[in-house]
Amino acid sequence: MLQDKDRIFLNLYGQHDWGLKGARSRGAWHGTKEFIDKGHDWIINEVKSSGLRGRGGAGFPTGLKWSFMPKEDPRPSFLVINADESEPGTCKDREILRHDPHLLVEGALLASFAMRAHVCYIYARGEFIHERERLQAAIDQAYEARLIGKNNVHGWDFECYVAHGAGAYICGEETALLESLEGKKGQPRLKPPFPANCGLYGAPTTVNNVESIAVAPDILRRGAAWFNGLGKPNNVGTKLFCISGHVERPCTVEEEMGIPLRELLDKHCGGVRGGWDNLLTVIPGGSSVRCLRTDVCADITMDFDALGKEGSGLGTAGVIVMDKSTDIIKAIARLAYFYKHESCGQCTPCREGTGWMWRVLTRMAEGRAEKREIDMLFEVSKQVEGHTICALGDAAAWPVQGLINNFRHVIEARIDQYSARAASDGAVTSKQVEAAH
Ligand SMILES: Cc1cc2nc3c(=O)[nH]c(=O)nc-3n(C[C@H](O)[C@H](O)[C@H](O)COP(=O)(O)O)c2cc1C
Ligand code: SF4
Repeated sequence: MLQDKDRIFLNLYGQHDWGLKGARSRGAWHGTKEFIDKGHDWIINEVKSSGLRGRGGAGFPTGLKWSFMPKEDPRPSFLVINADESEPGTCKDREILRHDPHLLVEGALLASFAMRAHVCYIYARGEFIHERERLQAAIDQAYEARLIGKNNVHGWDFECYVAHGAGAYICGEETALLESLEGKKGQPRLKPPFPANCGLYGAPTTVNNVESIAVAPDILRRGAAWFNGLGKPNNVGTKLFCISGHVERPCTVEEEMGIPLRELLDKHCGGVRGGWDNLLTVIPGGSSVRCLRTDVCADITMDFDALGKEGSGLGTAGVIVMDKSTDIIKAIARLAYFYKHESCGQCTPCREGTGWMWRVLTRMAEGRAEKREIDMLFEVSKQVEGHTICALGDAAAWPVQGLINNFRHVIEARIDQYSARAASDGAVTSKQVEAAH
């Protein structure tokens, strides 16, 4: 369990002053000038050796990403911070925006300096009205104290702007976000070119998650070795976990990367509602990953590699817990509706496949389906996965695959029940209709 001395987010629950005075008393903006004086490459190397992996979902090494930015380029460079946080089950970045915004603003300055950017945009989810206001207030305080802006005390001119989205999940995908920032329809771009070569307004850009940027100042303050010493090899540091669903006390909590799932639920959430034996399944990484079997839940640790090995993922660490009262087919059908609704429609497999999967799952939730359709559904999900411009296609396919891998017997039983009911009612089943043709 993470010790209090190792916590980064000391105001996660908003019990203290979020403003500049409060943030300073917790350590923010301490040493910032010395880090900048050590140079661009020193910061990038520190973040590299800290082992920080991006907190937006994919877990790409943050320092390495920063090192892709050109050192000499006539175009301006940009840092873009992704505060779109629309992944179902995920509610961590909003806590940083509300309660510890100065960590983000300080991180934005340091990361921008490291990548030789003088301008940063923070793109906030459309629904985040209060969060945007709080963040803007913190930015205004930083300008007023000359921590940022032109001729600031740190010696690196730096402008920080907040952009407000309109509430589309796809605008969290980094290139759709850039399109939206440019005032266009939020649709993902084909890659390559990657944003480091051709990002915002065609200029070198790095897009990072709020949490990835907000932990950077503490990594520099406490040292790369400190961060690297927490967690497991290749999966290090502290991490915000958001636990929702059928636990006694849903919460967002900072913990050590690699904490066992069971410990996370028992220690911080009062355990699974009705006890551990009442657990049906967990989706561990926001809704966009495959759910886990209960026997796996008992032993798994919460990190990128362990969950990846089990065919699932840490994603955003939005941990969705479902107990045995859950209708798992209906639950996954509801998620399928979400992805259908949020598909931007550019790629045929995603545009057509998400709607098709949702319609079949809706029938399956009633039992109004054929057993052979289960394999067909799996096959279609495979046709969507990996065949689209952006990862929304994968995100839509994986929950469906998790359902079929782990709960095929539930789907089959539902189909049997429906057929038995239809037979006893004297109704014609779809099987009979099919046989008649
Ligand atoms: C459909 C979709 C939605 C996404 N939504 C978010 C989001 O809300 N916030 C976020 O940080 N990353 C989101 N991502 C991941 C971003 O594309 C990008 O990888 C991330 O912001 C990089 O930050 P990191 O390297 O710090 O993790 C999303 C990706 C996809 C495919
Ligand atoms: S995968 Fe879906 S959301 Fe992503 S670009 Fe294609 S159609 Fe749009």
